[in-house]
Amino acid sequence: MLAGKRILLILGGGIAAYKALDLIRQLGREGAAVTPVLTRAAEEFVTPLSVSALAGVKVYRDLFDLTDEAEMGHIQLSRSADLIVVAPATADLMAKMAQGHANDLASTLLLATDTPVLIAPAMNVRMWQHPATQRNLATLRGDGVQVVGPDEGEMACGEFGPGRMAEPPAIVAAIRAALADGPLAGRHVLVTSGPTHEPIDPVRYIANRSSGAQGTAIAAALAALGARVTFVTGPASVPPPGGVTVVRVETARQMLEAVEDALPADAAVFAAAVADWRVTTEAAQKIKKDGTGRLPVLEFAENPDILATVSRRDAARPALVVGFAAETDDVVAHATAKRLRKGCDWIVANDVSPATGIMGGTENAVTLITAEGAETWPRMAKEAVAARLADRIVAALRG
Ligand code: CTP
Repeated sequence: MLAGKRILLILGGGIAAYKALDLIRQLGREGAAVTPVLTRAAEEFVTPLSVSALAGVKVYRDLFDLTDEAEMGHIQLSRSADLIVVAPATADLMAKMAQGHANDLASTLLLATDTPVLIAPAMNVRMWQHPATQRNLATLRGDGVQVVGPDEGEMACGEFGPGRMAEPPAIVAAIRAALADGPLAGRHVLVTSGPTHEPIDPVRYIANRSSGAQGTAIAAALAALGARVTFVTGPASVPPPGGVTVVRVETARQMLEAVEDALPADAAVFAAAVADWRVTTEAAQKIKKDGTGRLPVLEFAENPDILATVSRRDAARPALVVGFAAETDDVVAHATAKRLRKGCDWIVANDVSPATGIMGGTENAVTLITAEGAETWPRMAKEAVAARLADRIVAALRG
């Protein structure tokens, strides 16, 4: 999908630079031509030789290397790329970019270009959360710089929190989206899909009949329009689409966590059939028949409502939040009430009574409920519903 695309990859000086080696390999596999640039600090973490061996081309290292200047001026170097990717983008590099410094090769390239830029920040959690970094991030976003990650998790320094560089497949997906043509190019859309599984014991769980087909079709339709899609999926029976960042979860609580990690997003579509309840009496060992005929008793607690939680966020609420409503009776009335109760912008309502064959089937018959009213679409393939919904999302985001 990236065949023939020219990517100038600037590696900043951080432990995550080693992941950039894998990124170079993955980009090469997709047919992209990567020109690597190493900051001086990056050379402390990866060697120019390993980078050039993987990229199959020369590595650019220093602004004042006269040979480089004679071969290809730094201005030319940045302008001949389709996209500039900074991975890892350290706190220092982000600060330089936000301030417009040009005191080494990387910062000069970034200042001397009007090529689109994507950064993958990576730093210690406190450095990431520091108001100065957050200020720089806001400035960079305002300048049109696209951002992927950082992820949350255990860091090389032993601390836990946001700051870990996004994984190479997520960066590749962001690069594809940044280079994509289409009305959603440069937009990030989050899609939840599939059922959730709520464990009873190590071998048993409570599930539902969702196949994930509708959510998968929606993610594919949005990606086809150029969006960068984060696809948070429970254990679905259909495979996830290509060209999206897939985050696999099992339970509702894991799904909420993954969704919150994936924000901010321009739009979010909650197509997952999330279990309303989880078993609070989850057993550490397989529950056995005890021979007395006594039956196990399960106790339940309500799961967090992911759609309502995101709809009611003050910070980083997507501009458009779309929920689904699986109903078996009085579909429009129930779904209209659900839209207001959950605080989302749209509800896609469908009748999941067994007679319709919709849940787990290939077709869907939906009613789109917005603040303006209800609009019933004819029964059609789930892919066609997805394409129509994606077109509506394009129009809504255009404003
Ligand atoms: N949803 C969610 N988190 C939950 C439950 C539901 O995000 N814990 C989302 C679904 O992804 C869907 C919407 O909420 O977009 C409606 O799901 P549905 O199952 O129809 O609604 P419920 O919340 O179960 O409401 P009710 O019990 O009244 O049917």
